[in-house]
Amino acid sequence: MTEPVSQHGLQTDIDTTVPHTARVWNYWLGGKDNYAVDRAVGDEVMTAMPDVPEAARQDRAFMNRAIGYLAAQADGVRQFLDIGTGLPTANNTHEVAQAVAPESAIVYVDNDPLIMTHARALLTSSPEGRTAYVHADLRAPDTILAAARKTLDLDRPIVISMLGVLNHILGDEAYDIVGQLTAAVPTGSYLVISHPTAEVRGDEVEEAMRRWNEQGATPIRTRTPAEIARFFHGFELLEPGLVSLSLWRPNLTEVGQPQPVHGFGAVGRKL
Ligand SMILES: C[S@@+](CC[C@H](N)C(=O)[O-])C[C@H]1O[C@@H](n2cnc3c(N)ncnc32)[C@H](O)[C@@H]1O
Repeated sequence: MTEPVSQHGLQTDIDTTVPHTARVWNYWLGGKDNYAVDRAVGDEVMTAMPDVPEAARQDRAFMNRAIGYLAAQADGVRQFLDIGTGLPTANNTHEVAQAVAPESAIVYVDNDPLIMTHARALLTSSPEGRTAYVHADLRAPDTILAAARKTLDLDRPIVISMLGVLNHILGDEAYDIVGQLTAAVPTGSYLVISHPTAEVRGDEVEEAMRRWNEQGATPIRTRTPAEIARFFHGFELLEPGLVSLSLWRPNLTEVGQPQPVHGFGAVGRKL
């Protein structure tokens, strides 16, 4: 285990007067690491879109299936860079990866100060593996890569996962950021992305986004499937491609046919 590392100049104080994405997300997932201001905006969004907690659960379930699949491959990648980690919850990336490949190394990155204080829960590595936490902003990919190099060998394939975080980068610089991150890793690396769309119950989603953005929380946006697919430039998508998160290799032993959620996701392999 290594000590958490913090990017210079980032907010480190915990502000309980403004809702934070990570804490609202934690509320929707049934966690306790949130404040009244987070629960208020979480409830406000849920009045527009009642199934938003289900979408959050499906996002985590997608992460579990995607990371579990990649770690379980015979020639599997054993290095993971998880950007926009969120507050620790059940089955964090290192637990999923190390359950099948204990030697896996994981670097977590988030810019929320509360996650910094909870980082130790993300650093419970298996004895064979390694975990690290970096307090940094996705808008500083060079900082992230420099910090990641202390734990990961960037000359060998890496899984870069960005779940529910690119929707916070409103402009086209999101493509430059992903381009810089993916340029730094070799062929055979993987990219795992989830992102909200307005493809499923679009009116509800747009109203939920409007309410979210009115509350002073870090603004968010949807992208169309074509706009999300652009992030995978230079990657081939694994089956079934870019789909609603609940439909990406669903666990068919679960009861019932999964219902599509507004979050879409895909896994790509670098060519
Ligand atoms: C919706 S949560 C998703 C958490 C987790 N990846 C998941 O899928 O369950 C989005 C996370 O991205 C983080 N985040 C938002 N903007 C960020 C940025 N510019 N740099 C780093 N992290 C950011 C938030 O703090 C939050 O933890």
